[in-house]
Amino acid sequence: MLHLLPLSTLLLLPQILASPLSPHAESKPLPLLIWHGLGDNYAADGLRSVGDLANETNPGTYVYYIRIDEDAASDRTATFLGNVTEQIAQVCADIANHEILSKAPGLNALGFSQGGQFLRGVVERCGDTVKIRNLVTFGSQHNGISRYQICKEGDWLCRSYVGLLKANTWGSWVQGHLVPAQYFKATNDSTGEPTDDYLDASNFLADINNERGVKNATYAEHMARLDNLVMYVFAEDTTVIPKESGWFAYTNATSGEVTGLRNRTIYTEDWIGLKKLDEKGGLHFKTTEGGHMQLGDKVLTDVFRTYFAPSKASWRDAGAVEQEVIEL
Ligand SMILES: *[C@@H]1O[C@H](CO)[C@@H](O)[C@H](O)[C@H]1NC(C)=O
Ligand SMILES: *[C@@H]1O[C@H](CO)[C@@H](O)[C@H](O)[C@H]1NC(C)=O
Ligand SMILES: *[C@@H]1O[C@H](CO)[C@@H](O)[C@H](O)[C@H]1NC(C)=O
Ligand SMILES: *[C@@H]1O[C@H](CO)[C@@H](O)[C@H](O)[C@H]1NC(C)=O
Ligand SMILES: *[C@@H]1O[C@H](CO)[C@@H](O)[C@H](O)[C@H]1NC(C)=O
Ligand SMILES: *[C@@H]1O[C@H](CO)[C@@H](O)[C@H](O)[C@H]1NC(C)=O
Repeated sequence: MLHLLPLSTLLLLPQILASPLSPHAESKPLPLLIWHGLGDNYAADGLRSVGDLANETNPGTYVYYIRIDEDAASDRTATFLGNVTEQIAQVCADIANHEILSKAPGLNALGFSQGGQFLRGVVERCGDTVKIRNLVTFGSQHNGISRYQICKEGDWLCRSYVGLLKANTWGSWVQGHLVPAQYFKATNDSTGEPTDDYLDASNFLADINNERGVKNATYAEHMARLDNLVMYVFAEDTTVIPKESGWFAYTNATSGEVTGLRNRTIYTEDWIGLKKLDEKGGLHFKTTEGGHMQLGDKVLTDVFRTYFAPSKASWRDAGAVEQEVIEL
């Protein structure tokens, strides 16, 4: 409301607007992608309220709820059933063809539980067309799960799928059709190395983590290009085993000892660009209280303000680095 500004400001206004240092000159929040977790669907009220909060915190935020199917029930089924490689390819195509998302100079992304590692898959595989700048994950399984205890209490549909896959995790039918099997990881706890079964069969995680002999350098380039990867672990998470997977840590199931990401080969040899990202200050390890996906508005609002606010990542070109430093 211009009439409330002092006259001096009014007179300076054209200059302020034209100045490269003006933080709000063209500031508009980047669109936000939200990928829900296992057993959830893109149209769920809880998810919509997260998107509404993002828009309330950073007004004008366009929110896109990632879906595998426009039908909510089928979208939920696709959290259990499907080939994650194909699901990610489809999501990449949907975003690249979307009239708003495809025109934005960048995107922010929020992944809940398995949606977090799947969004990382989008960054690694589709970074040339889908320009995610900031990725925030809550309770995700970046280093996989070592036990199938991922279903919400009382979710019998989930339990029946998990029953199916427990029987034959490394079979090609299971790896091509049952989603959680594709981020299950078996480690030999006496050596700390992944098992050969996992390396041979894993349809998703072993690839996306560049754990096999031949590494895909594009994955590392795309990850290192992010502004921020923010990984939240729920302090009392008993659903994701081990919960430190949310920080890419390895937990020795025998001793319970946790090896942090920075002490792991995936980081020291920089298989997926995390070291590079860390060196430029873009890698963040966070804890939030509560059990798996017990998320309050406060932590979300903090995330939206800190990582998705237009002053950090707006509709500007990437040349505006100096400007961001001054704003801080
Ligand atoms: C964001 O909030 C504004 C103001 O309340 C509203 O007009 C707009 O439709 C909202 N946008 C989305 C994507 O929800
Ligand atoms: C590496 O990943 C990129 C992006 O998904 C893909 O285009 C390319 O074919 C992959 N390269 C190899 C050698 O698999
Ligand atoms: C998953 O889909 C990809 C792409 O269609 C295919 O190449 C791969 O073999 C499938 N994986 C399994 C385990 O069926
Ligand atoms: C784990 O590694 C040790 C040492 O290489 C080996 O003796 C053992 O057989 C492995 N265990 C399994 C289950 O593969
Ligand atoms: C895991 O813990 C067991 C039991 O303490 C220990 O013998 C083993 O060496 C540990 N593995 C690694 C990789 O540190
Ligand atoms: C890495 O390992 C060293 C000991 O080998 C330990 O002092 C340090 O705390 C570890 N760092 C992390 C980040 O886990």
